[in-house]
Amino acid sequence: MAGMLDLAALDGTVRILDPGTGVGSLTVSLIHRLRTERPDLSLHVTAVEVDPQLVPHLAQTLAACEAYGRVKTEVITEDFLTSEEPRMRGPFDLVIANPPYGKLARNSDQRKHTALRTIDTPNRYSAFWAESVAALAPGGQIVIIVPRSWANGAYFTAFREWLLSQVGLDNLLVFESRDSVFADSGVLQENVVVSMTKGPQSPTVTMHAALKHGAEVEHRTVPFDVVVRPEDRYKFVRFTDGEVVVPPASSYTLADLGITASTGKVVDFRNRDLLTPTPQPDTVPMIYQAHIRPTGVDHRLSARGKPSWFRIGISAADKLTVPAGTYVLIKRFSSKEEKHRVVAGVWESEAPTAFDNKTNYLHSDGRGLDPALARGLVLWLNSTILDDVFRTFSGHTQVNATDLRILPFPDIDTLVRLAHLAPDTIPGQDDLDRLVDKVLSEADAT
Ligand SMILES: C[S@@+](CC[C@H](N)C(=O)[O-])C[C@H]1O[C@@H](n2cnc3c(N)ncnc32)[C@H](O)[C@@H]1O
Repeated sequence: MAGMLDLAALDGTVRILDPGTGVGSLTVSLIHRLRTERPDLSLHVTAVEVDPQLVPHLAQTLAACEAYGRVKTEVITEDFLTSEEPRMRGPFDLVIANPPYGKLARNSDQRKHTALRTIDTPNRYSAFWAESVAALAPGGQIVIIVPRSWANGAYFTAFREWLLSQVGLDNLLVFESRDSVFADSGVLQENVVVSMTKGPQSPTVTMHAALKHGAEVEHRTVPFDVVVRPEDRYKFVRFTDGEVVVPPASSYTLADLGITASTGKVVDFRNRDLLTPTPQPDTVPMIYQAHIRPTGVDHRLSARGKPSWFRIGISAADKLTVPAGTYVLIKRFSSKEEKHRVVAGVWESEAPTAFDNKTNYLHSDGRGLDPALARGLVLWLNSTILDDVFRTFSGHTQVNATDLRILPFPDIDTLVRLAHLAPDTIPGQDDLDRLVDKVLSEADAT
């Protein structure tokens, strides 16, 4: 992280902030680099650490930093998000941060203070990030390690917009292996390191991919427009080297096709009274993600012992169902073992159906889809190219309705043609990918 900052333009006394300093590991790395590469500079470190138990250890690290010479340090033992202490509000030339993670309740002081000063944001890490950016001098730089959820999470849209209006992205590093770096914390989310400069965006961003902690890091410079697409109104930040190219014939969104992506409406633990393990005269099928297979949604499969029938007949329950018809169902949480993040299947029913809220479904204004179109959508959603595109903007195994809304799709004719090429069964992955490739190149040629 310390190596990602650009030291060339620094001058005189460099003011450094490490919010949530812990015992000071990041600070000492940065001081070491600065002292080695820029012995001409004077350094001033502000360490903010709320946990008094860590402070004696932090003091030792800072004393070691001061021993390099021309380094001054100060510790502020206060809450970085709520404190009114002006010394932690900058301006700073460099910020290095590994902030705490965790949801911020809407009515918490930390969230309210951050919203007043910068932007209303739902997580401790994004609040630390916003406050750190606000404390930067113009042209100042920040490097931070965070979960990847800010880059495409729907809850982070306002934060992303705010962030991109304040800083230019310089470097993005993604850890491609989930089980090495944060193995001890059981964190499934991918983690990323981001470095930024306060001020306007430069035309390019450098992408780094680390396959394993400590392994060689590969770099590639890509245009900013590939990382944040100009036409993307959600401003997803894509971790892509530009190699995954969306085929030109799949430049439509679901909205362009008149299709809506929604999340299933039944929350099983809240609707227990409406669920039953056996069919009754007043029940309809209840679909869980365990029923979803690329080969079709199969209600006969076991849903890990969950009751698979849903009572209808009262209006509150009927509102939670969809009418008879053909729908595309997509798992919201694929397992780590599944090769694809996006797993979709067709559901066809002559009766209304209830969908669990761990599923997403595609529909047309609340009603079913044309069966051939539904089949074409499933083939496309289970293709490798679609999965590759998905991975450029999502770092976890969860597939949200917002993600589906932003994914690229071929037009309806092309999807229906695709369905006609595989009318009976869903082909194996290689054959499916060949079919997709064939219809897309034909569509491009016309
Ligand atoms: C993920 S740890 C990182 C520690 C250190 N920067 C590192 O990388 O080793 C986050 C640190 O933030 C501190 N912290 C949590 N909430 C804080 C707050 N509101 N204000 C200041 N520090 C806080 C924790 O005590 C913890 O030491």
